[in-house]
Amino acid sequence: MKDPVFDLINQEKTRQKEGLELIPSENYVSETVLEAMGSILTNKYSEGYPSFQGIPGWKESKIATEILPNYRYYGGQANIDRIERLAIARACQLFHADHANVQPHSGAQANTAVYYAWLKPGDTVLGMSLPAGGHLTHGAKVTMSAKVYNFIGYGVTDDGDIDYDELESLALEYHPKIILIGYSAFMKIPDFDRIATIRDRVANESGHEVLLMADMAHVAGLIAGGVHENPLDHGFDVMTTTTHKTLRGPRGGLILSRGKVTSPLKRPEHTLDNIPTLIDRAVFPGTQGGPLEHIIAAKAVAFGEAARPDFQEYANSIVNNAKILANELIKLDFILQGNGTDNHLILIDVQESFGFDGKLYERALDMVGLTLNANSLPHDQAAFRPSGVRLGTPAITTRGLGATEMKQLALWMKKVADICIEAGSEEDLAKFSAELDAIHDEVRTLALKFPVPGV
Ligand SMILES: Cc1ncc(COP(=O)(O)O)c(C=O)c1O
Repeated sequence: MKDPVFDLINQEKTRQKEGLELIPSENYVSETVLEAMGSILTNKYSEGYPSFQGIPGWKESKIATEILPNYRYYGGQANIDRIERLAIARACQLFHADHANVQPHSGAQANTAVYYAWLKPGDTVLGMSLPAGGHLTHGAKVTMSAKVYNFIGYGVTDDGDIDYDELESLALEYHPKIILIGYSAFMKIPDFDRIATIRDRVANESGHEVLLMADMAHVAGLIAGGVHENPLDHGFDVMTTTTHKTLRGPRGGLILSRGKVTSPLKRPEHTLDNIPTLIDRAVFPGTQGGPLEHIIAAKAVAFGEAARPDFQEYANSIVNNAKILANELIKLDFILQGNGTDNHLILIDVQESFGFDGKLYERALDMVGLTLNANSLPHDQAAFRPSGVRLGTPAITTRGLGATEMKQLALWMKKVADICIEAGSEEDLAKFSAELDAIHDEVRTLALKFPVPGV
């Protein structure tokens, strides 16, 4: 008998096929990415690294064919090394980096490794606060990052942009060792040059080197597709990202850096120039064990896909769809944080728009096959019943939805908002099941016209 897990996988396939995924951190990978992830590479242990010579300036053909000395702790690495070198080379090319570490198991692991590479316990980091849109790993109280390091948070202005004046004055007051730009709920394109100038001032005043780090987990695919500025082109030392959001690869993390690449076996001096090797040592053995080579192979495939011209079109369509959807929502009386979007992400102030909270709206939309998540807004006091919802266009754009469907989506969202006004609570949504079911049927009919890859 087949393991019942496979029944559940099939049910999840149906959910993905029949609904529309609006969570901005999710996407649908290609069948080739799925194939690499499900491969026998999962059988192999490969602690350590392939030869560092395989990184900048090396032709892809050589990387994929040559067997070079390596820094591994187990035998049998000839194929694994070449796969990992290919992933590294493609990542460097895609993001204009000198070095890539493709081993982090997740975005959180990538950030942890950078902190471990550069900081001592108690050192100060300046990052966007969680309520303003920053990520948990940027010093939220419940995380290890806050227990080990001293995080200071900057916020956003009323129009939803980074509060650069606050960032500058906090940087000059606290002289952080890392200035971190990154977020999970922010709709503008950061002014990386301005932040680099602030870093230079802090370094001059404090007399210590300041690491400039960008966590671009959400927008890495937009950077790869050329529709978003790349922090590494604007003086940043390190960029971390997940590989599974707009970048449309397997679930995982990636660290890109500028600097000198040397052997990971020898601890280099603690300077910004040596950050690539400091990071390699911080990933393994610093914070991880064996790399997931099946995932690294899938990352290599995804980086190859992201380098193609059709990915540029994809990235462009993600942003176009988000702008159209945002405008349609505004026309229907939705109040949006920042009054719109410049990337893939939209944050709706549901409380301010309609007088109910984000959890109720998330639940009601789930009932019609539209999946998004309740999200705090900068002015929220507690995260438990947030005032907003967060949505985005990466996944639906992969399926091929365009302007016409964005208008339809906004209309459905308004109908569901009107039902929530009448229902007033999650329990009372059941009274409106006929209306919700009718919308669900329409969503399903549209969704089935746009296939999910691999399903
Ligand atoms: C900005 C940012 N950094 C890091 C992460 C963590 O990534 P992961 O869930 O892969 O650990 C996320 C995930 O949502 C994120 O949005």
